[in-house]
Amino acid sequence: MKRTIILKVNSERPEADKIKAAAKIIREGGLVAFPTETVYGLGADALNPEAVRGIYAAKRRPLDNPIIVHISDKRDLYKLAREVPENIDELTRLWPGPLTIILKASEAVPRETTGGLDTVAIRMPNHKVALALIRESGVPIAAPSANLAGRPSPTTAEHVKQDLNGRIDMILDAGPTRIGVESTVVDLTSKPPQILRPGGFPFEDLKRIIKDLRLHPSVTADRKVYIERPPSPGMKHRHYAPKAKLILVEGRMEALADKIQELVDKYSCEGRRVGVLSTDENKHLYRADVVKSLGSRKDPACMAKKLFGLLREFDEEKVDVIIAEGVPMRHLGLAVMNRLRKASGFNIVKV
Ligand code: TXA
Ligand code: MG
Repeated sequence: MKRTIILKVNSERPEADKIKAAAKIIREGGLVAFPTETVYGLGADALNPEAVRGIYAAKRRPLDNPIIVHISDKRDLYKLAREVPENIDELTRLWPGPLTIILKASEAVPRETTGGLDTVAIRMPNHKVALALIRESGVPIAAPSANLAGRPSPTTAEHVKQDLNGRIDMILDAGPTRIGVESTVVDLTSKPPQILRPGGFPFEDLKRIIKDLRLHPSVTADRKVYIERPPSPGMKHRHYAPKAKLILVEGRMEALADKIQELVDKYSCEGRRVGVLSTDENKHLYRADVVKSLGSRKDPACMAKKLFGLLREFDEEKVDVIIAEGVPMRHLGLAVMNRLRKASGFNIVKV
């Protein structure tokens, strides 16, 4: 066990002395969890193989799952990537933001960071603390979400502490993250370009910029699909899962509540403690041990922001089974449904 230092940092005006202390740890090969606009990341020097190995160990992450490299200056993209498309500015002008771009990796990026692939995932996060930390460190920062592998991503420093206290050197606490789901991952090395993970940057908006953009089939899959060579190794691992068993009920709004109550009654009768992950429109309809709402079905950004925190809350309340409502797949709802389906292990009931 190490001693994990936890520092509160001002999210708008990060204190220079705290950023300096964190950057020193990064430069010396240590691990610092820091806020981004999406979720908290677990950072290490992306060009230091040993430091990056430390990320895998702390998270218990499978070694073949590559890590996103975070930069603070768009020009750093050219140090990390090769064969950069000429029209890359159309995408990088969306930075800083919740968009990760996959390109062919340069020699500078160690295989620990790419998970042994010939590509690298790069993003410039839109958070003052993250940007200050990268700048002060003077190196690009490799950072997966700062949770134990398989657990819901952390949207507060408290979530990071729950998973990684004693396993990492420092946590920078700048309060809850603004978006709440991870970045959208777009692969520019495939033809046509494809989204490998829906996230904080909506597909509809990106499609307006990249006309032939498509969603990889796994993004919208509602059952386990066998992918011969997954373009994103993360696709094949279980994800975002609370400790409780999660069942997702999808389909017509009119039929959702009845089906969910039927399932609640069945599990309650078996003596299990049951939670419902609901929306504001339906939450008054359920009789269960715990009912929580993601917010209005008309507000996908709100649902995205609350998702991971609520999944963790169900675990704290020692729920055995969570029955979750499916939500519309538009805007950030696509990311929310993608996470819920994976969290359920594709245990999906259609109505
Ligand atoms: O919002 C985010 O993206 C957060 C914050 C911290 O920036 N990071 C994050 O990282 O969610 P992580 O490691 O939890 O998820 C990264 C995903 C994984 O599914 C991984 O397999 C995929 O991106 N990925 C990374 N590099 C890749 C590459 N070269 N090719 C294909 N997929 C890649
Ligand atoms: Mg993750």
